[in-house]
Amino acid sequence: MSASSIRLPLWARAVASAGTSPAGQILLGVDYYPDQTPEALWEEDSRMMSEMGFTNVRIAEFAWALMEPSEGKFEFGWLHRAIQILHKHNIGVILGTPSAAPPPWLSAKYPDIFEVNAQGQRLRPGGRRFTCPTNPVYRKLSLAIATQMAKKFGETEGVIGWQIDNELTLGTSLRCYCNFCQAGFQNWLRTRYTTLDNLNQSWGTVFWSQTYTDFSQVPVPLLSGGDPNPGLALDYDRYQSYANVSFTEEQLTMLRQMCPTHFVTTNNVGLLDTIDMCDLYAKLDFAAFDNYPGFFDMLMAQEGKPPSSDGIATTISLGHDLARSVKGGEPFMIMEEQSGKAGQRTFAPQPEAGQVRLWTYQAVAHGAMGVNYFRWDTATFGAEEYWHGILNHDRSKSPAYEEIRQTVKELKALGQEVLYSQYAAQMALVFDYDCSWALKIQPGHYALDYMNQVTSWYGAISASHTGIDVIAPEADLSPYKIVFAPLAYVMSEKQAAKIKSFVQGGGMFVTNFRLGVKTETSQIVRTPLPGLLRDVMGVTVADYVPIYSAKNAVKFAPALAGPDGECGLWADILQPTGAEVLASYTKGSHAGEAAITMNTVGSGKAVYIGADLDGASLARVLRTLSGLAGIKPPLEVPPGIELTVRRAGDKQWTFVLNHTAVSQSVSIPKTFTDLLTGKTRTGKIDVSGYGVEVLQSA
Ligand code: GLA
Ligand code: ZN
Repeated sequence: MSASSIRLPLWARAVASAGTSPAGQILLGVDYYPDQTPEALWEEDSRMMSEMGFTNVRIAEFAWALMEPSEGKFEFGWLHRAIQILHKHNIGVILGTPSAAPPPWLSAKYPDIFEVNAQGQRLRPGGRRFTCPTNPVYRKLSLAIATQMAKKFGETEGVIGWQIDNELTLGTSLRCYCNFCQAGFQNWLRTRYTTLDNLNQSWGTVFWSQTYTDFSQVPVPLLSGGDPNPGLALDYDRYQSYANVSFTEEQLTMLRQMCPTHFVTTNNVGLLDTIDMCDLYAKLDFAAFDNYPGFFDMLMAQEGKPPSSDGIATTISLGHDLARSVKGGEPFMIMEEQSGKAGQRTFAPQPEAGQVRLWTYQAVAHGAMGVNYFRWDTATFGAEEYWHGILNHDRSKSPAYEEIRQTVKELKALGQEVLYSQYAAQMALVFDYDCSWALKIQPGHYALDYMNQVTSWYGAISASHTGIDVIAPEADLSPYKIVFAPLAYVMSEKQAAKIKSFVQGGGMFVTNFRLGVKTETSQIVRTPLPGLLRDVMGVTVADYVPIYSAKNAVKFAPALAGPDGECGLWADILQPTGAEVLASYTKGSHAGEAAITMNTVGSGKAVYIGADLDGASLARVLRTLSGLAGIKPPLEVPPGIELTVRRAGDKQWTFVLNHTAVSQSVSIPKTFTDLLTGKTRTGKIDVSGYGVEVLQSA
């Protein structure tokens, strides 16, 4: 079992330097915009924040124009005054470097810095995040303003840490395709492949006469007369991720030198990001991301996705588990947590009473040791006038104001022992950027989507409430009883070797269709599928079948007993070479052939789910397999209730989170104390709509 310690001296230091009471072991703050607020209100704002119990703010991440009104002329007086006032009220400051929003003088003078989108159109200034991550002038000027900030505030009392940039890739275009990126890509390829011959072989450029005789001929995957080479396209996604990481690291190196006592992070958009999070946070102190459950709910509705019993709670949990796992289980921070109506042109409603508190506990249960609410006041100007904060447009208190105040108070009272306890995971879910990018490039079926698959697998397995780490493909699997890897389309030799030894050592590996199809350079393997995992899975793939109107169905063997399932988007037709058959197709020319198999290797099992199962069947199958692997839910709870268990020594706490609007009853076999109310809880308890309990064994 993996038990990652949440303890990290950094947090104690950060909280201590934020000037808060020793009882507060957690950063609880707000995103604040003194640059957008009349100076006469800063004192009142700081006093109110302090009264709410906040320990910190994040400020200045979009204030480049105020800090550098013309090139090389810096004005930090206003920011210094704001920091002083905040500090006087015991509010620590996380400073944002402002590279996400270059000022108009810069755009006018250096139009080369503008991003080019995937359609080849050059973005224009006027919004934000219209910049190229490779462009040397943009990098130089971003580093220059960040350096001046570090010089000015490196030793200023009250400053505790840094956020580099803001959501590096979340603009209207996720990647840049400009000439600077092309040159950067070519250099990156020189390092990766060393020789042109190696590059040509690795991509198979002989196809369509694409053999390169100089690195400078390699294009970026912009519109051509046909699709790009899949190897080039996948490498381009890797390059763009790398370019953003190296952009971040330029500022990080400087901050390490100039502000050695401060923490440094950046805020990304979690699951939606196009930067590999493991790479992004490798050298930063902790992962931080922005969490807007209601806004995502609105986006899902816009995409016509049906609502689930817990709204999008499981997707949000997946984001938290990813953020914790990218730093090997260390605490992470929510740099922006939704507190009000959220959106720009259209917006999500005010969270229901209790939801902001619930989302906060959800983050903390999964290992967050910092939550900043977005945002303090609500702007009356600018593109985000409808993105509501804790104060309304007229500065009256929003419906979440009291709730946040109460939550902050509770969390501070919860104490170090619970907050620093361990998040224990017996299961792991593989999250593989290569697979997600390669499948965007060639999904095989218009509706096949890596994120959708990962999210529905996570939703199914999280129902066992035993803790899930979300791991990189080549991570150590030995801590887990069971490892799930949906759509493991690109397979490296190293990953395959780890899977084999995990299964041989007694683990259960569960995967599905499109397994092991591609090499790391996005060529298709020359052996029968599933390529490198043929032996361990004990099958070969006789055929792979995208499904449109002629749906298939599967019949389950007794081990997975249940009503026949639907097979929606895809069917890998399996031919056992040693594996037992757990389900078969019932329709079409493949009727009677294997749809799900399980192979026994050493003391472990390898399960291949060839069919894209309907939600109910997938949930039952994954749950049955988890049971076979020895996973036992800590408590049986109704849908919509989330449990997260945390441990320290022989002590244990169970966070019970009700993501539904109505009261739910939960049977608990032992006697617990709810740490939030001090009440004894035993037998059948009612957890109120959007309610939270932190149960400690009596
Ligand atoms: C993001 C950004 C913020 C702000 C909020 C609300 O995630 O980081 O600057 O735009 O969302 O839109
Ligand atoms: Zn570019």
